[in-house]
Amino acid sequence: MENLKLNIEKVFDFVSKENIEKYKEEIINHISVLHNKTGPGNKFLGWLNLPSSIKSDEIKKIEETAEFLRNKIEVLVVIGIGGSYLGARAVIEALSHNFVHLIKKPANPLILYAGQNINEDYLFEILQILDEKSYAIIVISKSGTTTEPAVAFRLLKKHIEKKYSKPEAKKRIIAITDAKKGALRELSIKEGYETFCIPDDVRGRYSVLTPVGLIPIAIAGFDIRQLLEGAKQMEIITGEKSNFEDNPAALYAAARNALYKNGKLTEILANYNHRLRYFTEWWKQLFGESEGKENKGIFPASVNYTTDLHSMGQYIQEGERNIFEVVLSVKKTKHNLSIPADPDNLDYLNYLAGKRIDEVNRMAELGTMLAHVDGGVPNIKIEIPELNEFYLGQIIYFFEKACAISGYVLGVNPFNQPGVEAYKRNMFALLKKPGFEEETSKLMSKIQNQGSK
Ligand code: PA5
Repeated sequence: MENLKLNIEKVFDFVSKENIEKYKEEIINHISVLHNKTGPGNKFLGWLNLPSSIKSDEIKKIEETAEFLRNKIEVLVVIGIGGSYLGARAVIEALSHNFVHLIKKPANPLILYAGQNINEDYLFEILQILDEKSYAIIVISKSGTTTEPAVAFRLLKKHIEKKYSKPEAKKRIIAITDAKKGALRELSIKEGYETFCIPDDVRGRYSVLTPVGLIPIAIAGFDIRQLLEGAKQMEIITGEKSNFEDNPAALYAAARNALYKNGKLTEILANYNHRLRYFTEWWKQLFGESEGKENKGIFPASVNYTTDLHSMGQYIQEGERNIFEVVLSVKKTKHNLSIPADPDNLDYLNYLAGKRIDEVNRMAELGTMLAHVDGGVPNIKIEIPELNEFYLGQIIYFFEKACAISGYVLGVNPFNQPGVEAYKRNMFALLKKPGFEEETSKLMSKIQNQGSK
């Protein structure tokens, strides 16, 4: 069985191999610190051994719940934000038919998302769609108090209870939250919802291999055992016993930190597969929330190629030279499609006749990589044998491990997100949430002062 491959050779023109190897000792030490749970954020390392430690009873319970709902509904609404939403969406979009919403007789429920924004039109329109569909809700929030999902759930709870009656609605709602505390836990107990727990020692952005990701993924019809199996393989490959040179998470962490030290402040994750566009969103959250603190951190950005070669491509080729690129390269497509010959050849494309579309995409990928490296953009390639559950499990665990190591190299706690609170405090104060009276008056006078200037 192949594994995903990391290739950092196209970085050596910018930072030498020796420069990257200088991180070896430090990174080996960080890996031990992670495994011995003695570093910053050590209370949130539950994800480290999740793939190998998840109990078969738990997997079975998730599969049974998923099966029960799958047979009942046309649509599943996943309510959550940040780490309570992006992992599931990343995997589901990566594995789903590109036009899943237009399939006439789908084998699996369609997954919709709410609570990841506070847009009135979005919520109004999802309710309009749900009027016509048989549906269920999974509401996910570790804290149980996040405003966006709480607002969405309040609206959808009312809708589903009106549509089906309260007792039937109860069978169509699953809550995934903290084992003991939080508003969602209290509400679930009161209403009698089926609940699953988010382990205490797993932060949202590291939670895709807990019920947070596994339940929606299973309801969408995908094989969570294979996902976990892939992650388990990567747990071994990136484990304490692995050599620095054979550990892709260690090498990636070393390369990106060497580049950062060399002035490459932005990392762009690129894909050539439309199905991966939410995977890059998940990756941005993982690295952005884990590393961007104490006025430090690589800025994580993403592009979808070849689409964005006709927009961001110009900047990447010739703009500020403070970027590097990581390319997710999928080796095998699901389907075969070749370019037909045309006797008139009015579009001058006969030179491509008989070639697979994927070959053209592949040449675009190779050509772009060469051009970007020539233009001063170091490139890292991550080769994924094919887009299936197993390799998604591998790449999820690979990035989680690399992010933790990288955060330690940077000297930050990769498992907290203190900065996320700032906007919340202001929003609560502006909305006059009880308990925020002092902030409200401070903010109002600040706004008035700014207005009078
Ligand atoms: O990674 C994280 O911890 C965050 O992105 C959270 O997942 C996000 O803020 C949602 O929080 P909660 O699950 O408490 O609603």
